[in-house]
Amino acid sequence: MSAAPSQPRAPKRGRTPRAHRSDAQLARADATPNNTFPDLQRLEQATADLTPPFALVDLDALWANASDLERRAARRPIRLAGKSLRCRSLQERVLQRDGFSGTLAFTLGEALWLARHGFEDILVAYPTADRPALRELTRLEAELPRARVTVMVDDVAQLEEIDAARSSAGDPPAAPVRVCIDLDAGYRALGGRVAIGAKRSPVHTPAQAAALARAILARDGVRLVGIMSYESQTAGLGDAPPGRPLRALAIRAIQSLSARELAVRRAQAVAAVRELAPLELVNGGGTGSLHLTAREPAVTELTAGSGLYGPALFDSYRAFTPRPAALFALPVVRRPGPGVATVLGGGYLASGPADAARLPVPHLPAGLRLDRQEGAGEVQTPLIGDAADDLAVGDRVWLRHAKAGELCERFASLHLLAGDRIVEEVPTYRGEGQCFL
Ligand SMILES: Cc1ncc(COP(=O)(O)O)c(C=O)c1O
Repeated sequence: MSAAPSQPRAPKRGRTPRAHRSDAQLARADATPNNTFPDLQRLEQATADLTPPFALVDLDALWANASDLERRAARRPIRLAGKSLRCRSLQERVLQRDGFSGTLAFTLGEALWLARHGFEDILVAYPTADRPALRELTRLEAELPRARVTVMVDDVAQLEEIDAARSSAGDPPAAPVRVCIDLDAGYRALGGRVAIGAKRSPVHTPAQAAALARAILARDGVRLVGIMSYESQTAGLGDAPPGRPLRALAIRAIQSLSARELAVRRAQAVAAVRELAPLELVNGGGTGSLHLTAREPAVTELTAGSGLYGPALFDSYRAFTPRPAALFALPVVRRPGPGVATVLGGGYLASGPADAARLPVPHLPAGLRLDRQEGAGEVQTPLIGDAADDLAVGDRVWLRHAKAGELCERFASLHLLAGDRIVEEVPTYRGEGQCFL
């Protein structure tokens, strides 16, 4: 049931300027156990001149998160998942760190765009059937060899796409396309009747990996450089879902079985393929599994991205707690009644199974929640809870997206906060006119 009451609350009078006016709301935040007062005050004062809606990245939190990812990676290089930041300027800065090297792109279009902006060593994580982009890739190899763009394959059909694009690319004959085999990281039990993990590659066994490697080696137009396997069932699934102790136990049991099984199978698949060809890279893991995947000797590099922004879906892991670095501010535009404040917009849902975990999370001031009936709306989002009574039209509410880079599809720029001030405004992919997926 909606908690929306019938009588509107009288607007507050004699309010002080924006950066200072939410004294009651700041005091309430100060009284909460996690003492969010300094954060709220810092955010409000630093952004007093900005008009919401806007998105912000707290650089102090981002760099703390980067250090923690590096610690968990235990000196294994981390390939940066571009889709999880979707901001070229931030990606460039992260890639200057010693712990990060190379980019994981989500489409070939993204990879080509980044390559033209000077990014190097770009692994496209998902197979492509985009022939114009493949044609451009074959030309890029001669033009920008340092970009080292590698495409993902898990089927001979994708090799045929590459051959078709190469043969229509014209003279001179294009250089071979760098390819990487996607090895399924899912867990299978009961002879395959139970399958846990994302439905990704059909290449599951070491023998299947070796067979695809042979098919690659038999073609002139492609060059095998690596194997990638992404264990989404551990890397992207929190093992401490709040208020669900039984589910937590089940997740931990399956993750533990799956991690053990994958470590053995991945090592066997890598060994089987290495017998046929040298490999430059064996990529695995994600934000949620860095500390586990880093233990596997067969893996030469890890991938992460989301852990830098620290979105809400990454609150429920026992092994780490990223700081919320990416936030968005929405203006309160009406007060339907006691205990409810309504902000403009807010319906920035995350992709994946359509459950409540995909909704944005009210962050500050503390003590607000979404209305179960309305969720987060296209044009307005009612927020309910005691803290709503301290909010008036023109105040802001700070929210977090459930996922990382998807936030950047909603905003053309990110305001960068360092210490207690905004130091820069940088464009997102969208802000640069790019919309890859
Ligand atoms: C292939 C692959 N590896 C790794 C990751 C992990 O990225 P993140 O750290 O952003 O969760 C992803 C994210 O979806 C992915 O698609």
